[in-house]
Amino acid sequence: MHMATEISRLPSTEELPRLAHPTIADGRELWQMARESKTLDLNSPYAYTLWCRDFAATSVVAHGTGGPCGFIIGYARPSRPDTLFVWQVAVARSHRGQGLARRMLGELATGRRYVEATVTPGNEPSTRLFESFARERDTALTRSPIFTEDHFPTPHEPEVLFRIGPLA
Ligand SMILES: CC(C)(COP(=O)(O)OP(=O)(O)OC[C@H]1O[C@@H](n2cnc3c(N)ncnc32)[C@H](O)[C@@H]1OP(=O)(O)O)[C@@H](O)C(=O)NCCC(=O)NCCS
Repeated sequence: MHMATEISRLPSTEELPRLAHPTIADGRELWQMARESKTLDLNSPYAYTLWCRDFAATSVVAHGTGGPCGFIIGYARPSRPDTLFVWQVAVARSHRGQGLARRMLGELATGRRYVEATVTPGNEPSTRLFESFARERDTALTRSPIFTEDHFPTPHEPEVLFRIGPLA
């Protein structure tokens, strides 16, 4: 049976959601939160569940008193294991603007030199999140084109690669 791995360095209080690496039982909740975000590309329930099995160590789920309230799914880039690639980040509306996304990102970035993510130009909260993280860590954030509309088979905004680091 898969047991949740607590990220135990973190304080856990009534107010502060508890952070843990996901288990396969969390896959359905991640899918639900991604769907409710209305912003993220919604992957299949299978994809989230599989992610929770094989990429749990580079992913995190936040548990509030009312249940799961945020997640990040990511992976260490196979060709650059010093780089954490953040695939999706979401925080429940009820918990936004309280530093939860930045806190989850900080936990997952521990031990990595770089963080990467792709951001659609219109996504202000996401842009601000990564800018804020880079500023907090006093490091560089570089932006470069990565995927254009033509890379996708269905209508899709272009994606810009954000690369943050080096991290101390
Ligand atoms: C993006 C998202 C995860 C941010 O979560 P959050 O927990 O509210 O973010 P935080 O509270 O940690 O804020 C981090 C920084 O972003 C800024 N920020 C967050 N939401 C913002 C918004 N709507 N408008 C402007 N700035 C915003 C914060 O002010 C903070 O910057 P600061 O340190 O300079 O004050 C959340 O808005 C969300 O789930 N959006 C829908 C899904 C999505 O778009 N994900 C990103 C694409 S992968």
